[in-house]
Parts: sequence; structure tokens; C-alpha cells
Amino acid sequence: MSKLTWGMIGGGEGSQIGPVHRICSALDARFAMTAGALDADPAKGRDFAMRLGIAEDRCYGDWKDMLAGETSRKDRIDLVTVATPNATHYKITKAFLEAGIHVLCEKPMTVTVEEAEDIAATAKRTGAICAVNYGYTGYSLVRHMRSMVARGDLGQLRLIVVEFSHGFHADAADADNPRMRWRYDPAQAGISGQFADCGIHALHMASYVSGQNARELSSDFVSTISSRKLEDDAMVNVRMDGGTTVRLWTSSVAVGSFHGFNIRVFGEKGGLRWAQQWPDQLYWTPVNGRTEVIERGSGNLSAEAERATRIATGHSEGMLVAFANIYADLAEAIAAKKQGRTPPPLACHYPTAVDGLRSIAAIRAAVESSRNVGAWVDARPPSLR
Ligand SMILES: NC(=O)c1ccc[n+]([C@@H]2O[C@H](COP(=O)([O-])OP(=O)(O)OC[C@H]3O[C@@H](n4cnc5c(N)ncnc54)[C@H](O)[C@@H]3O)[C@@H](O)[C@H]2O)c1
Repeated sequence: MSKLTWGMIGGGEGSQIGPVHRICSALDARFAMTAGALDADPAKGRDFAMRLGIAEDRCYGDWKDMLAGETSRKDRIDLVTVATPNATHYKITKAFLEAGIHVLCEKPMTVTVEEAEDIAATAKRTGAICAVNYGYTGYSLVRHMRSMVARGDLGQLRLIVVEFSHGFHADAADADNPRMRWRYDPAQAGISGQFADCGIHALHMASYVSGQNARELSSDFVSTISSRKLEDDAMVNVRMDGGTTVRLWTSSVAVGSFHGFNIRVFGEKGGLRWAQQWPDQLYWTPVNGRTEVIERGSGNLSAEAERATRIATGHSEGMLVAFANIYADLAEAIAAKKQGRTPPPLACHYPTAVDGLRSIAAIRAAVESSRNVGAWVDARPPSLR
């Protein structure tokens, strides 16, 4: 089959996540980068797109021109990635879904629950795929954790402790840098800062691994740098619908934590521990037993883990392969749609608009709880209660 065609909105030169998408979409040679509206500055966006090798008539200055240009073509793009600041995700994603173009939207999918409900409903109505980039669930050993939990190795899950802490926004003197400032500006980021930026990755990871969703939560948000209107640190307790308790900490001022995304899962038969900075090892400790180190790519891992791994044990894969696994899943799903068949179940691991909706409802609940000194708040979206 010929390559699928892919476009991008946002992710311009110098952006944080743009290069990651370009590498990850290309890793398995399933997508060709064919169109882009890459920058808030139209001239810069067009110039960068041309330097990336996109045909001149598909280097757009603005996402609306790109929508009009692509929908007027017979060979319109199959998939668009939306990698702009949060407040723009809703209108761009909605417009492309309405045109029947599949979307991979960066997280958080929208700023409000109402918008998120609308995106989930639009994807359902149009039949276009709307995925959300919780790329860290693409790690091979994260998929293995999920399959260990699903097949009952841990028994009933009791607790999940999950942390996503970094210190990249800890310098008060740099807090006004525009690339950082928008994340704490309600007009561009929405009602939450660090929880919406990183905490929802952690909550989604807990959901993905456990197969459970947040039912209610209690939170404590703080802005440790006083000029920030939104929180840069949050502690959240979550009761999941399957009975498991999640303890979640997220921070952007945790100097020295680097990319401190760690999860521990405790069940009645044993515990698992995994850290994103050392993603090739998963630690499994059965109750009253010895700890076993499960190496990525070693024999007898689950089919989910094997599908998500590319190179032999001992060679690092890392984040680029994890995010590429989301693109690999999407390539399967889009190809299956084009051919009128059902995608293989192993390729159905990409996070969807419903996952995005659940996250936005959790953000709203966490903001409300924090404003009410940690009161327990229903974390479910209205349509899923
Ligand atoms: N999944 C992840 O792990 C992950 C990691 C980082 C960022 N993100 C998300 O990706 C998004 C972008 O974050 P970033 O860190 O790359 O931001 P950034 O500020 O580094 O880059 C944003 C880019 O979008 C462009 N842009 C802004 N408005 C635009 C518009 N209307 N049309 C076209 N381009 C526009 C900017 O010019 C810039 O190139 C955010 O929603 C963020 O939450 C996700």
C-alpha cells in the first residue's frame, strides 16, 4: 500500500513537540509529510514547511487555508496532527473532523468539558478518527504492564502511585519567557497549568494500565512562582471506577526531576514499578517473592509489548519509538478504514477522543476541588456518568 499522507498544524521551527511528531510519524515509513500550517507567523510557517520539503502549494500560512486547500483536493491528507497551544485545539480539531479528515490532537484535547464533549460526539458522528497524543502509553513495557494487569497477574489492584514531575519551569527569572508563559496564562492554556500539561498524562497512564477510569477526585493546587495565574504543582487523589485508589503528584518546579514520569501499581498478588527515564526495565515483585527485572524485548512478553518494540534488548528505544507506536496504531486504523475492514485489536491502543474527554473532565474536577479546599468532586464527563 502507498504511504498515507500527513499534515501538521503548529509544531513550527523551535517548537518543543513539533520535531518529535515529524520523527515519529516517519519512523515506520507509513506516513509522508505532505502539508503544513506550522507557525503562528504565516511567513515563518510557509518558509519552514518548504525547507521540510513540502510542495509549495501545500505550505499554508494558516490552518483555515490548509483546511480549504486540502478539502478541495482529491488527494487530501489522511491525517492531521494539531500541535498548537491548547486554546486553539478545539476549533482546529473540530473543523478537520467535520471535513472527514482524521486528527491526532495534542493534549489537552480542549480547554473546556463542553468542547471535549463536542469533539467526542463529532468524531462519533463523522466516523473520522480523533486520537489524543498520550504518547507515553506507546512504550513497550507500559503496554506489557497493561496486559499483566488485564490477565490478572496482580489480582485486584489496590493502589497506583504515579508522578510526573520536572523542574524546567523552576527558574523564576525565566518565567516570562513566551514559550513558558502561555502554559500559565488562562487565555492560552485554559483553567489549569501543570495538571493539564503533565498531570493528565499521569492520570491517563493510570487509566490505561489499570483499565479503570477516574470517578471522583480531591486535589491541592499551588503556584509556587507568584506571578503565575495557574498552578505549577498539584497533588491529586483519585478514586477509580474499578475500586483502585490513585495518588498522583505533578510538578514543573521539581528541580532535578528531569522527566520524572514514574508509575507504581500495587495489587493483591504483587507490585509493578516503571520509570520513563529508564523505560527498558519493568520491576515485578510478587507478594512474598523476589523482584524480577523484565527487560524490554526479552522473551515471552505479551503480544502488545512485542508489537511495540523495534530493536533488540540492550539498545535503547525511548520516547521516539513510544510516540511512533501511536502513529503505527493510527496508520493501521486509517488503512483499515480506507479498505473497509476492522483494524487488528493489537493496533487499537491509541488514545481516543473519549480518553481526551475524560481528561478534560478530570481537569475541571481538580480545579473545582482545589478551589474548595480539596473537596471530593465527580471526575466523570457528564455524558459518561
Ligand atoms: N504529548 C506530549 O508529551 C506533549 C509534550 C509537549 C507539548 N505537548 C502539547 O503540544 C502543544 C504544543 O506545545 P509545544 O510545547 O510544542 O509549544 P511551543 O510553544 O513550543 O510551540 C507551539 C508551536 O505552535 C505554533 N502555533 C501557535 N499558534 C498557531 C496557529 N494558530 N497556527 C499554526 N501554528 C501555531 C507556534 O508558532 C509554535 O511553532 C501543546 O498543546 C502542548 O500541551 C504535548
